Amino acid sequence: MDLAELSTCTRCALSQTRQRVVVGSGPATAHLMIVGEAPGQREDEGGEPFIGRSGRLLFSLVHEELGLEREECFVTNVVKCRPPANRTPRPIEIASCRPWLDEQITRCQPRVILALGNTAAKSVFDFDAGIGLTHGRIVDLGTCRGLATYHPAAALRGGPSVVDVMRDDLRVLKRLLSEK
Ligand code: URA
Repeated sequence: MDLAELSTCTRCALSQTRQRVVVGSGPATAHLMIVGEAPGQREDEGGEPFIGRSGRLLFSLVHEELGLEREECFVTNVVKCRPPANRTPRPIEIASCRPWLDEQITRCQPRVILALGNTAAKSVFDFDAGIGLTHGRIVDLGTCRGLATYHPAAALRGGPSVVDVMRDDLRVLKRLLSEK
């Protein structure tokens, strides 16, 4: 697949309501790939992933626990276009967008993939249980390893206890990043 064509993709109906395709940001060969659910309103307008409140929390935790700047991570979403009213992406939308994510993973060859929240964890790692049971679990994807944690939006709603779990998960991820 030619990633140059992603910004004009019409593989699913989200192409009719989006303002911009949010392709991703960061170095094409980052060691850490972060995968969220789908762009929100800010991202749809700005064309970059995680530029709203969730992103601020996410990258402060990434900085504090991993010592990494946002610019050192490749950041994207399972679904590259905003679902109307920020609803959860539908299975057909996730499936339509999947080849783009697969291509990004192939090009980036990250050491570790961090999936944020249920949608990303289930889609990228094929988990059949919710994030409450699967967060922090190390996944061997063959070419790289992966780990899921809560979505930062859940932490904004859930408060300090969710943030503490995210910090614990990121500490596990830090070890994975340093092991290769
Ligand atoms: N939430 C996501 O899952 N992704 C974004 O890019 C922004 C908010």
